[in-house]
Amino acid sequence: MVVWDRWACDNANMVILGRSGAGKSYLTKLDLLRNLYLDADATVIDPEDEYVDLAAMVGGTTIRLGRTGVRINPFDLPQPATHNVDIDIDIDIDADPAGGSDGLTGQALFIHTLLGVLLEQPLSAEQAAAVDTAIMAAYRGAGITTDPRTWRRPAPVLADLAAALRQRGLVGTSIADRLAPYVTGSHRAMFDGPTTVRAGGHLTVHSLRGLPEELHAAGTLLVLDSVRRTITDPTRSRRHLVYVDEAWTLLRDGHGARFLYRMAKSIRKNNGALTVTTQDVDDVLHSDLGRAVLNNAATHILLGQSPQALGAVANAFTLTAGERTFLATARRGHALLAGSNRRVGFSAQASPEEQRVIRTDPGFTSSPHQGATH
Ligand SMILES: Nc1ncnc2c1ncn2[C@@H]1O[C@H](COP(=O)(O)OP(=O)(O)OP(=O)(O)O)[C@@H](O)[C@H]1O
Ligand SMILES: [Mg+2]
Repeated sequence: MVVWDRWACDNANMVILGRSGAGKSYLTKLDLLRNLYLDADATVIDPEDEYVDLAAMVGGTTIRLGRTGVRINPFDLPQPATHNVDIDIDIDIDADPAGGSDGLTGQALFIHTLLGVLLEQPLSAEQAAAVDTAIMAAYRGAGITTDPRTWRRPAPVLADLAAALRQRGLVGTSIADRLAPYVTGSHRAMFDGPTTVRAGGHLTVHSLRGLPEELHAAGTLLVLDSVRRTITDPTRSRRHLVYVDEAWTLLRDGHGARFLYRMAKSIRKNNGALTVTTQDVDDVLHSDLGRAVLNNAATHILLGQSPQALGAVANAFTLTAGERTFLATARRGHALLAGSNRRVGFSAQASPEEQRVIRTDPGFTSSPHQGATH
């Protein structure tokens, strides 16, 4: 029996590395289930549609962005803590240095990033200035200001930004024209209304599989931003775990890698933990952001490694000859846990009930679905 309390480490983050088929997702799902038993909340970023059955079986919510009628509005603002809301008292939040204008500014910055992705190029200084004013005009049009008490109002949508841009001369109009596919054209369905399903409850799985190729980068960004808002939500009190399986899909993308890095650094302060699972050792060990994610995880789990990856893993984790042989020959589910100067070998074992929820091989996913899928 190995008992490991990740919450007792410097941070509760964990990185799981292993070759394809080594048992990473099995172990990740088992860790997820066991944390749910302990009353934690969790969010999964699921590029391969592997956690949908699990979510259904434990009464979680699956959000499939890219499906008809499923939207995450990029203009959504973090919700202020209830005790800050007092509609009868008029305070100028700008005058309060501890006030909440960060939420609005932060969201405006995110919309800038999203526009850069939608337009497939970063904005010039002149365009950025026009976008800035237009974003604030769109929020103002919806009655939303830097006062957090206004953030509960329905947020504007991309069409409102496009309309505001058209009020800003040639520069604004040309950006609005280029946004047309997302406002009135073939991709509008993902942007033409408020958020349809809010992440909430004990488990939310964001399945990215259904995102069409042309919207994959933008859709992933929307999901990541929604996860960021969930984590930083001040009304949340329980521990929150974020699981990113097949993390190489994010690590290879600039925005995705930066998101993982920022989350790895900051999630501890939000009473949370990040678990990053990937088969691609190169993306973790040979990129600055990948290494930073690894260095910000106090717990590392190494499963069986491919011969190509073994040398790099042995160097990075200063493996002994014995540990190296163990990882070269490890059977499915056998792993080396490395953290805080301790190492221990173990094998992942689920109960028969847990196996039914976890196992992805034929014959093991047969329970009736009870959760909500959107
Ligand atoms: N500890 C274990 N006990 C029993 N079965 C396991 C165990 N670990 C993995 N399996 C089974 O082995 C198969 C591969 O495992 P899993 O999907 O977890 O691998 P993976 O490392 O995530 O692979 P990939 O990189 O392709 O995602 C699955 O069918 C899984 O149910
Ligand atoms: Mg897997």
